[in-house]
Amino acid sequence: MALIEARQLTKTYRMGTAKQQAAGGGMTVHALQGVSLDIEEGDFVAIMGASGSGKSTLMNILGCLDLPTSGEYRLAGEEVEAMASDQLASIRNRRIGFVFQQFNLLPRTSALENVELPMVYAGVTAVQRRERALAALQRVGLGERWQHTPSELSGGQQQRVAIARALVNNPQLILADEPTGALDSKTSEDIMHLLNELNHQGMTVVIVTHEPDIATWARRKLVFRDGQIVEDSQRSPLAEWRQTEKHARVAGTVSAADVGQLAGAVQP
Ligand SMILES: Nc1ncnc2c1ncn2[C@@H]1O[C@H](COP(=O)(O)OP(=O)(O)OP(=O)(O)O)[C@@H](O)[C@H]1O
Ligand SMILES: [Mg+2]
Repeated sequence: MALIEARQLTKTYRMGTAKQQAAGGGMTVHALQGVSLDIEEGDFVAIMGASGSGKSTLMNILGCLDLPTSGEYRLAGEEVEAMASDQLASIRNRRIGFVFQQFNLLPRTSALENVELPMVYAGVTAVQRRERALAALQRVGLGERWQHTPSELSGGQQQRVAIARALVNNPQLILADEPTGALDSKTSEDIMHLLNELNHQGMTVVIVTHEPDIATWARRKLVFRDGQIVEDSQRSPLAEWRQTEKHARVAGTVSAADVGQLAGAVQP
């Protein structure tokens, strides 16, 4: 069973007032036009395509932030398309971590509290929240900066905080919509190192990017055009990709405890 199983997803946005629409007016946007896609556990997928081709629309559906107009979507075997909003919130909390281009951190709030936030929704106790948030910050190389607010951190550091927040409920799936879109190329590289390490630890990572350099970090590349997948290519077989990850772990170069250090080592 694949982690993500999507069948014939469509998403249609209707613009204009109900009256305009009833009169056959308004505008209809077909953002997704029949997208079928399986993504296996442990994969690293890059999604590319022109602006407006439907990438974020798909990410929002895969992330259970939005429902498709039609089609089927199963995440880890759970039928998402039939879920009510509280069930969607629950599956998001249990299984998914999000990373966005603009970091989406709370401004006058410390790194620690930003990372604690998803656990508040998940009902984790205050003591455990603190412990796990600190561990996640350490994991992204920001253990010493926990009391800093976003304005006291660089763009790359803010994105690390956002990644720590994405990790803190230990999700199976990380969805990152243009995670390096607001960063310079050196900092982008550091963030991709970090996502790469998380993938090596077994997390499934899906990123949207406009930059071919960034896409080369992924094993599999999808290209969107007009709401459809027009290209689906793989750099190496998934079994081999996973094997590499296993070697790295067995050799002790990428243990979970090392990642904080690794991330620290690649910091500017
Ligand atoms: N909430 C919405 N209401 C109406 N139309 C929308 C909405 N969200 C997206 N669209 C439209 O759906 C289409 C796909 O948008 P989407 O955001 O998925 O593109 P994208 O591939 O992520 O583009 P970009 O690279 O610019 O982020 C576009 O035509 C967009 O205008
Ligand atoms: Mg987008």
